Amino acid sequence: MTATLITSIGELTTQTDECGTLHDAAIVIDGERIAWIGAATDAPPADERVDVAGRAVLPGWVDSHTHLVFAGDRAAEFVDRMAGRPYAAGGIMTTVGATRAASDAELRAHALRLRAEALAGGTTVLEAKTGYGLDLDSEERLARISAEVADAVTFLGAHVVPAGVGRREYLDLVTGPMLAAVAPYAAFVDVFCEAGAFTVDESREVLLAGRAAGLGLKVHGNQLGESGGVGLAVELGAVSVDHVNHLSDADLDALAGGMTMATILPGADLSTREALAPARRLADAGVRLAIASNCNPGTSFTTNMQFCVATAVLQHHLSIEEAVAAATTGGAAALSLDVGPDAVGRLAVGGFASFQILGAPSIAHIAYRPGMPLVDAVWLRGRRDEGQFLPIVANRFSHPSCHQLRG
Ligand code: NIG
Repeated sequence: MTATLITSIGELTTQTDECGTLHDAAIVIDGERIAWIGAATDAPPADERVDVAGRAVLPGWVDSHTHLVFAGDRAAEFVDRMAGRPYAAGGIMTTVGATRAASDAELRAHALRLRAEALAGGTTVLEAKTGYGLDLDSEERLARISAEVADAVTFLGAHVVPAGVGRREYLDLVTGPMLAAVAPYAAFVDVFCEAGAFTVDESREVLLAGRAAGLGLKVHGNQLGESGGVGLAVELGAVSVDHVNHLSDADLDALAGGMTMATILPGADLSTREALAPARRLADAGVRLAIASNCNPGTSFTTNMQFCVATAVLQHHLSIEEAVAAATTGGAAALSLDVGPDAVGRLAVGGFASFQILGAPSIAHIAYRPGMPLVDAVWLRGRRDEGQFLPIVANRFSHPSCHQLRG
């Protein structure tokens, strides 16, 4: 196996207690894993050498909340929203119609394009939810395609009750035959616990059925109001509750006292003009945070985690270190992928060599240069993705050896 030395790393963010953040660092990759991490001057010899000329290196993003497999476009709904119309759960049925009408090949090609887009932006692990099928065959199809394009699949049959189906009838389907059909592909069950979608009692029924089928629990909660989703998620020990825009003091206390992670979705906060999730209050209360893109055609049509991290700093008042942690180890924890040798979202000896090289000397530039494409290169399990390579900003790093990265 060929060992590759990545050296002259100006700032190496490992997200591990052992190494923390290193300067003038190097890593050695052997196969798909990291074989060595330390000071560049101490690096062992390797077969290949990549000099990153002072660039920052950090783990790939772990995007723990997407709705990646869908068809159609809701730009008109977005434009209306920007003109003042509030977001409502009912728009989901527009995407359900387009998705049901699309072929497997069309859905797969679209999802793969989004996945490639995400990877080029530094995302090396990604979850995808069902939820735009809402009948047995369509949900099974979305779960199957999601399993092809994503690292973790979440069953979201309980997204809304589809038009023309009775509530009781649909709940029986979601907690019975549909769950049975989707469970072989899925790691988690999720429910949209919100006005216009599912009540707390209905959500509890869906989650308990998912748990009985062996799935971990996730909740879309408190996006549009104090829906009770947060309390339910904590009560049932869900791995995460996502959105969390509207929190009572009791919700905050429950999250602070529980194990459930709060996932903030900055793209959706901006694109729905909803009250921003109170990320600063959550972090100050000791709640563990994840940041995800929530890529979907209704509320957040972006795969760009760098944008989400920058927004979490600029608008939600997290520090850059908090935001990067939430988008790496936080995302990993929100997918229960944060322990053992295969843990993601961190750079550790023996762990996967999945990381991004920024066209910048530090992670601060992610928020300091908002909207700029700062990802120069992405390595996914020891292999470099052939993305775009752009010159970096700071002159002191415009060393000729940075061109070695291009090869
Ligand atoms: O996470 N809120 C529920 N589900 C998605 C949006 C779905 C849609 O409007 O298409 C979300 O924001």
